[in-house]
This record gives sequence, structure tokens and C-alpha cells, in this order.
Amino acid sequence: MARIIVVSNRVAVPSGDGGARAGGLEVALRSFLKRHRGLWFGWSGRVAQKNDVKTHTVEQAGVTYVTTDLSRVDHQEYYNGFANRMLWPILHYRLDLMEYFSRDLNGYLRVNEQFATQLRELIEPDDIIWVHDYHLLPLAKALRDRGVENRIGFFLHIPFPPPHILTALPKHERVILSLCHYDLVGFQTDGDADNFARYLADECRMPSRDPRTFIAGKRLVRIGAFPVGVETAELNRLARRTERSAFVREVRHSLSDRPMIIGVDRLDYSKGIGLRIQAFERFLADNPRWHSAVTYLQITPRSRSEIAGYADMERRIRESIGRVNGRYGEAAWTPIRYVNRPYSRSALAGLFRSSKVGLVTPLRDGMNLVAKEYVAAQDADDPGVLILSRFAGAAVECQAALLVNPYDPEAVGSTIAQALAMPIDERRGRHDELYRVLSENDIKFWGERFIEALTQPARPAVAWPDKLSA
Ligand code: G6P
Repeated sequence: MARIIVVSNRVAVPSGDGGARAGGLEVALRSFLKRHRGLWFGWSGRVAQKNDVKTHTVEQAGVTYVTTDLSRVDHQEYYNGFANRMLWPILHYRLDLMEYFSRDLNGYLRVNEQFATQLRELIEPDDIIWVHDYHLLPLAKALRDRGVENRIGFFLHIPFPPPHILTALPKHERVILSLCHYDLVGFQTDGDADNFARYLADECRMPSRDPRTFIAGKRLVRIGAFPVGVETAELNRLARRTERSAFVREVRHSLSDRPMIIGVDRLDYSKGIGLRIQAFERFLADNPRWHSAVTYLQITPRSRSEIAGYADMERRIRESIGRVNGRYGEAAWTPIRYVNRPYSRSALAGLFRSSKVGLVTPLRDGMNLVAKEYVAAQDADDPGVLILSRFAGAAVECQAALLVNPYDPEAVGSTIAQALAMPIDERRGRHDELYRVLSENDIKFWGERFIEALTQPARPAVAWPDKLSA
């Protein structure tokens, strides 16, 4: 069996807590790598003082983790700059928030070159390389320039917009077209995959074999949809266990047995938290019978706080929660509980199972694993109801959720009332359908499906299009 090398900006190096803090995807990638005696390469998460950049190697349970520090200027230009102030907003359809500086683009390309130089030393001839997410779009080109001929696949975890949005990215060809140096480019949904295919066909005039296979010189680049799943059965077991834990019992006790609505999101404008608070406010305004009778718990760990827009957003969210609690709260009831600290996967699973409603209303999201984890954690006999944005990739599979337009707080507010009042038979029916879909597309299949597609023999092409060699 070939060795797999996973490359991503963040690397889930095992820590002393037994992986309690790692997200579901990280846990799944780690167990996937264990099966393939793999190697995981990326940023160490450290910013070096005075350019004292170090590389760290850790071996554990058959997996080698190689991580590298970033210098202050690389961190600023590559991570805070081009990846998070330019690519993140534009790929989430937010042209209004993107900030372009050619210095950041250069820093982004430079770090990808540095990663390729380090990685080159670690690659053996039969290795299969699997690169993840928007930080590393040009990595295959940098590796090919260094003579790497191995199979290289790429998976984008976040959305991919249509060409008329994407082309607002200055010098988009340098970054986006470089994806053609991969053998396989995977997306969360067919819609994202089609957007990329349209970009290649209509904007770049790339020749193709079929709508999902383009000719990139000596190599064919294939495009596919590989929706990320969760560890459905494992999460259900975990939730069943932690529901009885002292932690979850204490939370329930503190609510005086009021039903709970839960939202869990990294603090990010793509998650639609501000509009969600407005929707909850509308729900309270329109449904006085629920006053003092339901609590909304919003868990929102801070993120990317060095980027100015994130700090402003945090302030606005705090203010709107303060407004709702001030207007509707009672001495013995706080309508919205707002928590910025992160919780372990098992604590979240227990909280999901204890919540009548899962409120997941991103304005745009590649997949949204919280939605799937919420479903997986439910008690099939007495399940909670998932309210899900139609703009999350998860909505493609989760058609049995209550799908909403997050830009319409009035409609989301009335959907909250509908969810709280939903009869048990309808709740069970919807949950059975959702659970079935998530069991069929479990996270374990995702990694295997992607690698299987990546290692399929692809027929060689003939010519090297000029655009790519530029
Ligand atoms: C999203 C991205 C990931 C990223 C994560 C956390 O899920 O797809 O690549 O790691 O957000 O963001 P951060 O900037 O803290 O790595």
C-alpha cells in the first residue's frame, strides 16, 4: 500500500489531552493516516520570533507529523493576508470584504514555495500526496516545478463561487489556474465542482475530455464532489455517554429543564451569527408564549482575531446579544447564553443531544460539520430538529432538515417556533431520513473514496496549454 502524505495549513499534532480538542475532521484524517502509515505536513501554528524558524517532527501511532514555523512576515502576508483577507472572503462570495495587496499575494506564493521545498525532501517515489484547503492552492505547481511527478490531489473544504465572482480576484489565473497541476481536484458539492469546471472552460478556455476532465498538458486534471461526512455511529455513542456526564447534567440543571436551542460556530462572518440573533429576537417578539420557556446557547470560540473585521464582528454580536437579553430577559431567565470558549468534541456531542433545536444558519459554508454532528448525536426516539441554511453544503444531503434562508430573520424566527412545536412523529421521520443519509456517507468512506479516485489511472494528454506554463 502506498504511503499517503497529507498537507494542510493546520496540522492536528496529537497533544497530551488524548485529542479531546481536535475536531471531527482532524480525528478522521489522523485515523485515515494511521491506516496508510502516513505523514502529515504543515504549519506548526507557531510564529517565529526574529525569524528563528524551526521544523518539528513527531511520530505517533504510525503517523509522522512534520510541522514548520512561519516567520512573522510570512504569517502576516500568507495567513492573515492573502489566505484570510482575500481568498476566504471571495470564496465565500463576499467581494465586499476582500482586501487585495500584491505584497500578500507574493507572500502567499512564497510560503507555498517554501512548503514545496521542505516537502520535496520528504517525498518518496510511490507516495500519494493529498493537499487540503485554500491556503495551499498553488502547492502542486510549486512541487511540479521541483520535479515531483507523484499523484497529487487537492480538496477544498470551503465553497467555490461561480466565475463571475471568482474573476474579481486580481491575477486569479496565477492562483486558481495553478490547480490544474493536481491530478484530482475535489470539492464539497457538485455545485462547487461545476463552478470550477465553468471557470476552466469559459474563462480559461481549457480543453476538456468531458465536463469533469480537463487536459493540462501531459496530465489530465479531474474534478469531483466528495462531500465530507462525520463519524456518525461513533458520535451517536459518544453523545449517549456524555449526555449522562456531570457536565451536561449541570448545564441542564442550570436551565431548570427549559428546552435548549444550540448554535456552535467559530466566530466568523460566514456563519451568519448576527442575522441569527436577529432571527431569535423576531421569534421572541412573535411568540410571547416562549418567553422564560426556552434558552438559546450560542458557543462561539474566537478566531483569526488579528484580522480587523473579526474584532468588529465580535463587538457587534456581543452588542446585539446584550440588546436581546436586556429587552426580553428576566431576573430568573437569560434568553441567550453566549460563550466564547471552545468545548471538547464529547462535551459538544452531549450538548447536541440535550438540545431540542440545532440552529445552523451560515450565509455560505463549504459543508458545515456542526449540522451533521448535531444529527448524529440525537436520540432516535426523541430527536431534536435541525434548522439549516440552504447555503451550507450540508443542505444538499440534509434535505429532511428545516431548510431556511438565513438572510430572512423573520422566516428563520417562525421556523424556530415550528421546530419547537414539531410533533414527535414528524421529528422521528425527519431524523430517520437524515441519519440514514449520514450513515451512508460516513467520514471513513470520504478519505478512501478520494484516494481511490486519485489513484485511478488517468489517460495521458498531449499538449501543454500555454496558460499553464506561464
Ligand atoms: C475552516 C477552514 C480550515 C481552517 C478552519 C479554522 O474550517 O476550512 O482550513 O483551519 O476554518 O480556521 P483557522 O484560520 O483558525 O485555521
